[in-house]
Formats: sequence, structure tokens, C-alpha cells
Amino acid sequence: MKKFLFAAAPFFWGVSNSSFQVEGNPQPSDWSLFAKPGTADRVTSFYEKYDRDFGLAQELGANAFRLSVAWERIEPAPGVFNEDALDHYEKMIVALRARGLEPVVTLHHFVFPLWLAAQGGVLAPNFPATFARFSEKVVGRLAKPPARVRMWMTFNEPMVLLHLGYLEGQWPPARKGDATSTIEGAANLARAHIEATRRIRALAPEAQVSIAQHWRLFHGKGFLGPLLARLSDWVFNRQMVKALHTGRLSFWMPGGPWIRETIPLPENRSTLDFLGLNYYGRMMVSFTFKAPFVKVEEGPGPKSDLGWEIYPEGLTQVLKDADDYGLPILISENGIADAADSRRANFLRNHIASMNEARRAGVPVMGYLHWSLTDNFEWAFALEPRFGLVAVDYATGRLTKRPSFETYRALIKADRASPDPAR
Ligand code: FCB
Repeated sequence: MKKFLFAAAPFFWGVSNSSFQVEGNPQPSDWSLFAKPGTADRVTSFYEKYDRDFGLAQELGANAFRLSVAWERIEPAPGVFNEDALDHYEKMIVALRARGLEPVVTLHHFVFPLWLAAQGGVLAPNFPATFARFSEKVVGRLAKPPARVRMWMTFNEPMVLLHLGYLEGQWPPARKGDATSTIEGAANLARAHIEATRRIRALAPEAQVSIAQHWRLFHGKGFLGPLLARLSDWVFNRQMVKALHTGRLSFWMPGGPWIRETIPLPENRSTLDFLGLNYYGRMMVSFTFKAPFVKVEEGPGPKSDLGWEIYPEGLTQVLKDADDYGLPILISENGIADAADSRRANFLRNHIASMNEARRAGVPVMGYLHWSLTDNFEWAFALEPRFGLVAVDYATGRLTKRPSFETYRALIKADRASPDPAR
């Protein structure tokens, strides 16, 4: 099949967000119950004011915008679809295109409609069919004119969703140390992605399908550290990508079952037409005598407001690692919690330089989308962390550009004038 994106497409510069984190007026979902009261409904009202944000992205000089659709709005009850919500998203995408932005649409970004959460979310036995039906409905509408969405992401950060929901208990359904559910969830999610891709390809042959994979750099420390770092890399970064790329599922983690299964792929090829990669930093991995015998912690470098290590050089490495699968790569998220905006400008410069180093080494990077255009609802941390190029005053709803907005604008402009690496 002809790959529209990668032969002739420009480099995509843009921003990324997700429905629940910016839309406001949350509909019944696992997160509408789990969010700290009075937070998720205080965000920027993107659902109504999207064009204000698209205008800001246009001012940045962006040519791409990643957003997600809210499953809980589109399918408020099992099998019942809200055509008004689909109309609304269609209008949103048309407005986005009118600003010269290419849409990248995520079908599922962490949030489950309440009815589906009650069935077990990703663990529901019929989850693959339920997700595929939902995907068919959305793609059936938004891949057609006038929206013509071509770049799709089925799931955002599957392994983060599973780790925080079933191992760490910080996200719904707040289970702790449940390695069995983590692995069963991963396998069910892979089945859902493959089934959805089968339906998407049948409906919209020109669609380019992917996931957004959170790709951490793992560095080993001390005795057994390097070995455990490789294991973490396999479990967290690679198992899912390999499954979706080859149809050979092999999911395992310490304390969990080993699920092996082969699924014939639609059109007999990878269900990843490209790979979305979210990069936030590095983790140090070492041996500990306490079960499960692996300690994972932040690296020693400077930190963001959330205590995440700022490690730009890691981006070159993870891009080279992710290139093992031979797919075009879109950096679908990269950003920093920095309320004072004292580190974001350098963060942008250094990460973009690091990305360009990988590109010079031959990694086919299609674009860079910064997380995020505006401050937003940051899951368990609610409204505290500030990831925006634009600050949000939650009391008045006022938006103010941070100085790093201008830095990003200038970086995009300079790259357009003189592409690095030369294209
Ligand atoms: C990523 C998520 C995104 C946002 C950023 C900060 O893991 O995909 O929704 O919360 O982290």
C-alpha cells in the first residue's frame, strides 16, 4: 500500500493533548470517579474552545496536532452511539485542518466509559470486540471527508495504563502488585489493537495506524543492574510493540503468567504503519533483596517539578532502540512539568538536538509533538503539574503564553528555514 506520509510529507512539528485532560464537563468514566473532585471539570474547556487552541498552535508554526476522542461521550452506553458527539469531533477536525494542521487522533487515551470500567475495562473478555466496534464507528466517520483523518493511534501508552492501574495502584482500578492482570491486560489490549486495525484497514485503506508507546531509557546500576535494565526494556518498551508488529504475542513479567499466542495480521503485515513514541526520561535499575528483586528509580540528573529526571541525550538512544522495528517514528509526546518555565526552553532545545542526532544516524523520525500546548489535568497529580507552553489560570480560565512558547516557535521556524538534518 502506498505510504502517503513518509515519502512526501513534511516534517511534523506540533503539540499533543488528550480529551479528558483538557475538554472539561467530564462524562461518566473511571476517571470522572477517580479524579480529585473539582479538578477534571476545571480544565480549559477545549471541547468548546478548541479553535482558540488551534489558533495558538498555528501561531507556533505547527503543522500537526494530536488529540483524542472521548469514548465516554461517543458511546455513553454499550453499543449506543451519540451521533452529536461524532458530529462535534468532525467539526473539531475540520477547524483543525482549516488552521493548516494535520490531525493525529488517539482512540483511547487512558479513560474507560463507566459501563466498560464496570465490566473490567481492558480485562473484560469482550474488550477486543468492544474496542474494535468503537474504532469502526469513529474511523467510519472521521476518516471520511470532511475530516479525512489519516493518522490514528489506537491506544496511548498501554504499559503505563497497566502498570499504574494494576501494579502501583495509583490509577483506576487501583490494584497493587497484580502482575497477572497486568499481563492479561496487555494481551487483551494487543488483541483489541489488532482487531481494530483489521476493521480500520477495511474501512479506510489509506489510514496509518499506530499506538503511542511510552519508551523509557533503562540504565543498569551495580550487580545485575545491566541485566535487569535489559529485562525492564523488554517488558516495558518492547513486548507490546513486538506483538503488534508481528502478531506473535509473548507477554511476561516477574510474578506474572507467560501468555503466548499468534494472531494472523490483517493484510499479513505489521499493524503498526508507524510508531508513536512518547519520551520523558531515564530510569535507573538495580537489584534489591526485596521481592520482586528489581528497584527502579529516577536517574541522578536535574529534575522537573514532578521529580522526573531531565535526560535529553536519552532521546537519541531510545530512537535508535525503537528503530529495531524498522518503522517510521513520530515523537508523539515529550515535555516537562515546569511551572516557573525556567527549564522548558532548554528542555526543548536539547531534546530537539538529541532527536536530530538520531535522525543524522539514520532513524526515520517523521515529527515531534510537544506535550503540551496548555496546562492540563495530569491524572493522579490533578492540576498541580504544569506541562503547558501556555499557562492556564484555573480560577479565571485565562490563558497566558509562557516564554518557552516563543522558544518553540523560533525552533520550528529555524528548522523550516534550514532543516536539521538537511532534507
Ligand atoms: C504521558 C501521558 C499524558 C501526560 C504526560 C505528562 O504519560 O500520555 O497523558 O499525562 O504523560
